[in-house]
Amino acid sequence: MKIAKWVVREHVEGVPDVDRVYEKVVEDVEVTLAPDEMLLRTLYVSVDPYLQGIALDTPIGHHMGADSIMEVVAAGPRAGHRVGDLVQGFGGWRTHVVGTGAPEPWQTGTFPMVFPAYRRLDPGWYDDALPLPTALGAMGGPGMTAWGTLSKYMTVNPGDTFVVSGASGAVGALAGQLAVLAGARVIGTTSSPQKADYLTGLGFDAVVVYRHGDRADAVREALTRAAPDGVDRYFDNLGGTVTDAVFPMLNVGAQVAVCWQWATQVGQEDTGPRLLPYLMFPRATVRGIFSPEWFTEQNWKDLHAELGSRVRRGEVVCDHTLHHGFDNIPTAYGSLYGDREANRGKVLVAL
Ligand SMILES: NC(=O)c1ccc[n+]([C@@H]2O[C@H](COP(=O)([O-])OP(=O)(O)OC[C@H]3O[C@@H](n4cnc5c(N)ncnc54)[C@H](OP(=O)(O)O)[C@@H]3O)[C@@H](O)[C@H]2O)c1
Repeated sequence: MKIAKWVVREHVEGVPDVDRVYEKVVEDVEVTLAPDEMLLRTLYVSVDPYLQGIALDTPIGHHMGADSIMEVVAAGPRAGHRVGDLVQGFGGWRTHVVGTGAPEPWQTGTFPMVFPAYRRLDPGWYDDALPLPTALGAMGGPGMTAWGTLSKYMTVNPGDTFVVSGASGAVGALAGQLAVLAGARVIGTTSSPQKADYLTGLGFDAVVVYRHGDRADAVREALTRAAPDGVDRYFDNLGGTVTDAVFPMLNVGAQVAVCWQWATQVGQEDTGPRLLPYLMFPRATVRGIFSPEWFTEQNWKDLHAELGSRVRRGEVVCDHTLHHGFDNIPTAYGSLYGDREANRGKVLVAL
């Protein structure tokens, strides 16, 4: 059978130039399954900003890894899933996958990690109110990141001022809405007035329009206007200038979640203000977020029960921006970087 995949052909630092980084390869594969192997067909693939780092760590010529939803089309007698099962796992930008679905070690530049075993998606969890692609969004990694941070680390109290940078994306929009429901005054950053209106529609109290490269003093002024009483909780997706502005505004007992640092990883800024003095007087706590620590069966159930129910009740909106077709995966991924105007919530591709 023919299996198509996108492979990494060049390592490009900074903002990914998808035409340089990726190449489509079609292979004629004779599939003979070992007893514990499966043949899976990819239904949806996720495109995420963290793939920039994954691509840099992917050997040249190797397929691009990514979170995906797959259907088992053939399975050996000892395989982990049965024919017809839907699973979510790090299947990558491939039309089909042959494998066991076992956990896969992955060495980043500095940090060893493991892509978890494929997990079976209970069909009873998904319907029109919570469609299958949410397994890559609110009911998947992004949802676990937002919900996990707010239920397992950050305590958000009524009246708190909660700031989230990169707020219009899959993670930020959920984190902000959960903070609104917890009674906080929520401020987000996004890069356009149209997206600012979108966030206001989701219940955000104030929005600061910020795009990487904007003047630091303008961001500081806008944040100070939006949060005149300081910041109690900061959910950081961007780092850089926004974070430099927020740290001196932290109140006593503040909590900071470091979810991603776009400015360093993609924007390639590696110098900036010294921020640690701003933690001392407010006795602030800063915690790195690495959501796979919460990928347990119990937490997936709890995520569905808590966040999933809120989506079903219409209390939380989880939007998708759906692209179509295997050939359009790099374009969909590229849309996370250039003109992001059309993107709302989780960006993914239906094959
Ligand atoms: N630590 C973890 O465990 C973990 C887990 C999941 C995700 N993450 C990371 O968390 C971040 C958010 O994830 P996501 O799924 O929400 O991503 P996403 O849907 O692509 O959203 C990215 C957000 O970053 C903003 N952004 C991107 N480029 C920007 C730029 N040049 N200037 C200003 N803002 C910019 C976007 O702003 P606009 O509003 O302007 O579009 C958007 O709000 C990602 O970087 C992801 O890799 C971390």
